[in-house]
Amino acid sequence: MSAPATPATRPANPRFSSGPCAKIPHFSLDMLADAPLGRSHRAAIGKSKLAEAIDLTREVLGVPADYRIGIVPGSDTGAVEMAMWSMLGARPVEMLAWESFGEGWVTDVVKQLKLDAEVKKAPYGQIVDFATVDFDKDVVFTWNGTTSGVRVANGDAIPADRAGLTICDATSAAFAMELPFDKLDVVTFSWQKVLGGEGAHGVLILSPRAVERLESYTPAWPLPKIFRMTKGGKLNEGIFKGETINTPSMLAVEDYLVALKWAQSLGGRKALIARAEANAKVVWDFCAQKDWLENLARDAANASTTSVCLKFVDARITDGAAFAKAVAKRLEKEGVALDIGAYRDAPAGLRIWCGSTVETADVEALMPWLEWAFEAEIAALAQAA
Ligand SMILES: Cc1ncc(COP(=O)(O)O)c(C=O)c1O
Repeated sequence: MSAPATPATRPANPRFSSGPCAKIPHFSLDMLADAPLGRSHRAAIGKSKLAEAIDLTREVLGVPADYRIGIVPGSDTGAVEMAMWSMLGARPVEMLAWESFGEGWVTDVVKQLKLDAEVKKAPYGQIVDFATVDFDKDVVFTWNGTTSGVRVANGDAIPADRAGLTICDATSAAFAMELPFDKLDVVTFSWQKVLGGEGAHGVLILSPRAVERLESYTPAWPLPKIFRMTKGGKLNEGIFKGETINTPSMLAVEDYLVALKWAQSLGGRKALIARAEANAKVVWDFCAQKDWLENLARDAANASTTSVCLKFVDARITDGAAFAKAVAKRLEKEGVALDIGAYRDAPAGLRIWCGSTVETADVEALMPWLEWAFEAEIAALAQAA
């Protein structure tokens, strides 16, 4: 069996990494020329850039006017940790996990905060049944499991009159999926995902009930300065106007602004969501035609439209991990797909980022290459046998 011929078309942009994700189409560093570099972030220009980033986030994401939006340190991880360490412990907690990042939050709550939380897990490819969750407890979960390709379909199962807080890590969902803010008390994300921004900063969005918790509850454990959102029992409102706790990167802020303005130019959130959905559909349709490739997500209703995770299901494959790695390596070597191996803790396979900065034509161009790499690896296996 000889190696198959290479497809005629290559993706113009081979960047399908799930974070940092592809920059906006036609990005160039010249677009950041307006960054107020070498100036204090507390000078009027710096403050106005940070405030603009908050305002545009509200506009593009559709965040209600009475929710606070803060730019915080430590990327998405920083935002999630800040929320958990500041708010949990006031009432019973349920932790939901269906992939490695959600499991990381479980570890923090159970092993670091030492809370007696109820933990509900689903295997990779599946999701916890929200009908079984007690929303009178504080509930921590990930909207889109970046490493399992499974997402929450909608917020219908979350009661509007819940007594607990919902703390949602939405980093690979925000901007590409509709987030029901009325059902979410804490939403976090980082710029490096759907908008193709830079790492470093996280965004923390708080409902009025989350603010109430911050002002009425002091955790039993100490909080480092970098996590502290209250002063003398009152919310530090400055954080939510762009007075960041510590020094932000104004280059990263400028880059985020450029991406937000690109999003606006397309028509905002709806257009971003449509782009991700169109991209994911290309991969889903391809999978449906091939009997050797499957979506890791078991149920189409919960299949991610950003981090699409795939597994090879061909009986000729004996070592699934080695096979998937070899396919990803082959594609990378050809320069048609970078960083698409499954996450290190996830089942063996591929993960193709379909977020809003990725062009649908590039996903379309990638599909024949997947088949080419698959066939080439199968041929190599036959030769080695
Ligand atoms: C669901 C989820 N949570 C948290 C993180 C960590 O994000 P960051 O590196 O921006 O802190 C990631 C990164 O991929 C993620 O996918």
